[in-house]
Amino acid sequence: MLITILHGPPGSGKGTQAQYLTKRYGLQHVSTGEMLRDEAAKGTPLGNEVAPIMAEGNLVPDDLIVRVIESRLRDADTQRGVLLDGFPRTVPQARALDEMLRRSGRHVDLVLCLDVPEDKLIQRLLIRAKAEGREDDNLETIENRLEVYHRDTEPVLDYYRAKPGTAVECVDGDAPIEEVAMRVRDAVDRHYRDAA
Ligand code: AP5
Repeated sequence: MLITILHGPPGSGKGTQAQYLTKRYGLQHVSTGEMLRDEAAKGTPLGNEVAPIMAEGNLVPDDLIVRVIESRLRDADTQRGVLLDGFPRTVPQARALDEMLRRSGRHVDLVLCLDVPEDKLIQRLLIRAKAEGREDDNLETIENRLEVYHRDTEPVLDYYRAKPGTAVECVDGDAPIEEVAMRVRDAVDRHYRDAA
């Protein structure tokens, strides 16, 4: 069973590449952003709590999102392999994930990170804003999301680089979608080959 994390700044293509990866490797896609947006759209108590935080581009509290993931990782469809998209986003979340996986004899195998220059990220999210109207895709919120990423989420990469048993592979994500998908696939295949 493969536990893989897709890591990268807002707009780097995590959700887009997840579609390719889940198909090819039979992983269950678990996107915390999608789960939270779903709750917000349904107007559940959790959704109502997180909606204003997400609208400002801030992170929801660690203990809340850790509970959400802990519950999701108990579901039957996550037992054969998972692709985590948007989680962990802080070092405390990464520690909590490792602890919950350890309890069930699992660990994070691979962290795939997507590198894309900041001007391209902003451009992509502003294009999406016009097409989809996601509430956090406006320039002010995008700039905050990028700041939060550099401050709180980037350190997660160093956490995993220092962790024996977890590989970190960074891929240049500044190319057409299909080209990035090939680079990501090569990185995952390389990991399997090296680990064999
Ligand atoms: P989340 O939904 O995870 O948002 P994000 O990280 O900001 O990521 P995006 O969905 O914007 O971008 P992406 O990297 O998935 O790129 P995508 O493929 O969509 O989180 C939203 C919020 O939820 C957070 O701000 C926070 O409030 C909360 N949250 C979630 N998880 C949390 C956690 N663990 N802890 C605390 N809070 C949490 O692509 C973007 C656009 O670019 C698309 O239009 C796509 O078509 C286009 N595109 C993709 N690839 C390419 C390419 N190669 N070339 C050109 N265009 C491309």
